[in-house]
Amino acid sequence: MPAQAHVEPPPVDSTSVFKDDIFKGKVLFCTGGGSGICKAMTEAVMRHGAHAAIVGRKLDRLQASANDLASATGNQCLAVQADVRNPKQLQEAVAKTIEKFGRIDFVICGAAGNFLAPISKLSENGFRTVIEIDTIGTYNTIKATLPHLRASKGSYIHVSATLHYKGTPYQVHVSAAKAAVDATSAVLAVEEGPHGVRSNVIAPGPIAGTEGMDRLSAKGPDAKNFAWATPLGRYGDVKDVANATVFLFSDAARYITGQVIPVDGGCEHLRTEPLPYPQSVLDPDAVAAMIKPRL
Ligand SMILES: NC(=O)c1ccc[n+]([C@@H]2O[C@H](COP(=O)([O-])OP(=O)(O)OC[C@H]3O[C@@H](n4cnc5c(N)ncnc54)[C@H](OP(=O)(O)O)[C@@H]3O)[C@@H](O)[C@H]2O)c1
Repeated sequence: MPAQAHVEPPPVDSTSVFKDDIFKGKVLFCTGGGSGICKAMTEAVMRHGAHAAIVGRKLDRLQASANDLASATGNQCLAVQADVRNPKQLQEAVAKTIEKFGRIDFVICGAAGNFLAPISKLSENGFRTVIEIDTIGTYNTIKATLPHLRASKGSYIHVSATLHYKGTPYQVHVSAAKAAVDATSAVLAVEEGPHGVRSNVIAPGPIAGTEGMDRLSAKGPDAKNFAWATPLGRYGDVKDVANATVFLFSDAARYITGQVIPVDGGCEHLRTEPLPYPQSVLDPDAVAAMIKPRL
């Protein structure tokens, strides 16, 4: 009988590891908090006592998520509409957060865009848009929140990826954008450490059930041949990222800054490709049916 690989059990809730009230009186400002991974990160921080403001473009979805988060956690959640590419809108979002809660202690820079396209088919506009949302959006978020984080001696988490550790085909836009996010966090950590502000990066691997994973996974009958190999035997869960978030914002991580923490079950060391290689780069049209169309 062939040996069976270990499959890591699903994650536990952070409240079974960390005390309930470690973030009591704290306030989180999270871009991209209306959906997916960043919503789960926000929920976990709120479960430990924080209030939160979540930022995105689609107000209806954002408000519904804010209601979910408040009722799930018993703490307050403010939905603030802003496009992270627009510094003025972000400044207004920060002002509304301060008006409501009086402070900001934690910031998650999570807003991002993604789709699959090789350089030969990617427009300049497509490349620029992802850089504008992921990289410039992160910078704009830092600029708008930094005075408040200096005041609270707060902490940043930037949501990056592991794609750029290698040359991942069809991901030049996100690879360039996330490499810049990692670099920005390192500089922020060095410049703001003396002001009492920490900055770290969480780099998720393939996280099941998310929009990002849905976009990057191969579609169609052959899709199962291109699943990512995972040393811990399963795809990530949003709670895996949420638990790392609680740790990094907690006092247990007080001496950790300027770091990039992959939460990927070890996948970065075993990276497989979501599309057949090299066929996908030799004939992009042949794999069009395996790709979710761009929005
Ligand atoms: N899913 C994965 O497996 C995976 C792997 C590696 C890294 N990541 C990273 O994890 C983060 C969350 O990914 P996800 O898969 O959970 O995706 P998601 O649900 O699509 O989340 C992206 C969020 O960003 C917001 N957003 C996009 N453009 C924006 C803009 N211009 N201004 C303000 N908000 C904007 C979206 O809200 P609106 O549409 O309302 O604006 C949405 O809430 C991203 O940073 C992603 O790169 C994900």
